[in-house]
Amino acid sequence: MKRVDDFRLTFKDLEGNEKKYVPIMIGGMGVDISTADLALEACRLGGIGHISDAMINTVTDRRYNTKHVKDKLKQYKFNVANSDKSVVQFDLAQLEEATRLHVEGTMKRKQGDGLIFINCMEKLTMNGPKETLRVRMRAALDAGIDGITLAAGLHLGSFSLIEDHPRFREAKLGIIVSSVRALQLFIKKSARTGRLPDYVVVEGPLAGGHLGFGMDWEQYKLEDIVAEVVAWIKEQGYDNMPVIAAGGVFTGSDAVRFLEMGCGGVQVATRFTVTKECGLPDDVKQEYYKASEELIEVNQISPTGYPMRMMKNTPAIGSGIRPNCEAYGYLLDANGSCSYIQAYNKVIEENPTAKKISEIHVYEKTCLCTHMRNFDCWTCGHYTYRLKDTTNVLPDGRYQLLTAEHVFKDYQFSTDNQIALPPLDETAV
Ligand SMILES: Cc1cc2nc3c(=O)[nH]c(=O)nc-3n(C[C@H](O)[C@H](O)[C@H](O)COP(=O)(O)O)c2cc1C
Repeated sequence: MKRVDDFRLTFKDLEGNEKKYVPIMIGGMGVDISTADLALEACRLGGIGHISDAMINTVTDRRYNTKHVKDKLKQYKFNVANSDKSVVQFDLAQLEEATRLHVEGTMKRKQGDGLIFINCMEKLTMNGPKETLRVRMRAALDAGIDGITLAAGLHLGSFSLIEDHPRFREAKLGIIVSSVRALQLFIKKSARTGRLPDYVVVEGPLAGGHLGFGMDWEQYKLEDIVAEVVAWIKEQGYDNMPVIAAGGVFTGSDAVRFLEMGCGGVQVATRFTVTKECGLPDDVKQEYYKASEELIEVNQISPTGYPMRMMKNTPAIGSGIRPNCEAYGYLLDANGSCSYIQAYNKVIEENPTAKKISEIHVYEKTCLCTHMRNFDCWTCGHYTYRLKDTTNVLPDGRYQLLTAEHVFKDYQFSTDNQIALPPLDETAV
């Protein structure tokens, strides 16, 4: 019976030399849920870790003592009551600085034989989609990131934004797709740059975060999409383009199934949300552990327009917080608008006497920036309800947190759908 460790993910460098990795990628989880610490563990253990550049200015304010959010709010405070947010622009020099700080700060701590990639979501349109994405990707390359995973969007113009960067052909560049059609479109539209993606993450409907499906997500199966993508890549003769399967890969045996189908690796996330290295606060990690299957839903409250999976008791649902675009504004489209602003204004109009935030409930959309920033939007993978089976219950009823190393090695070495429990943490008892 095979285990994940019997396989390796292979990338070729520009000279054609092969490098091999443990075929486990920890997926990007914004905002700073996939921390540098988590990514560095995957890398140390010979796999691939992701940091994320979602709400990067907020992340560096927290971790590197910058004051970007405060500065932005101060500059645009005059506009807070205005529904038109088109004046609220990101300072590109600050965005560049924030990305550089986060990437450099991570890369200089790198150990082991693995790689560190950054998850870059196109849907973070930041009131200047092209300009801001260009700065984010170029700054990450400047700061030495090993690779960029293009996420949450079709990214049809993304390669063009960096094609003149000195590291364009050397850094690993990949894309997340949920259909063979999306991959075909990306490759067609990027053909002019003379570069193919180095890897393709195929994300199925059981993943956490935003889904690349409609509300009919239940009709799709990761296995079917992976089979289609693997077959198409083979047909095209793209020999060096590993397919990475993602979404609902919960055990080492799940991973082996995909590796045996011809995937180069798997991308996993949910199992790591309850590790010490994960950026969620400890009390939120307990919520992830406690979740029942009935508590997990796919809804449409994300202003991105993509369905998103989350727990029904997530504080973000129904919160009536005032749009916070002057401080954040990561989801403002090219015209300075976000669907939460309309949803919020509609509720305010319908409830003219409501004054306190506890009296205002917006169910249609959520202020994703504010709630992700505060860890109040509990997005999660479909199998979150199985997390409780992966650890010990402590005498006080809490679940024991895991180490990223424990979960990583469980994926790497387990067989027969087994999940190894951690040694009881005596210090937590
Ligand atoms: C808490 C959480 C946050 C996530 N955030 C992002 C994100 O910011 N960008 C992204 O591309 N994918 C995101 N994902 C998706 C993961 O990177 C990954 O592809 C997927 O969840 C793998 O499936 P699994 O969670 O069943 O292992 C997130 C997943 C989780 C659980």
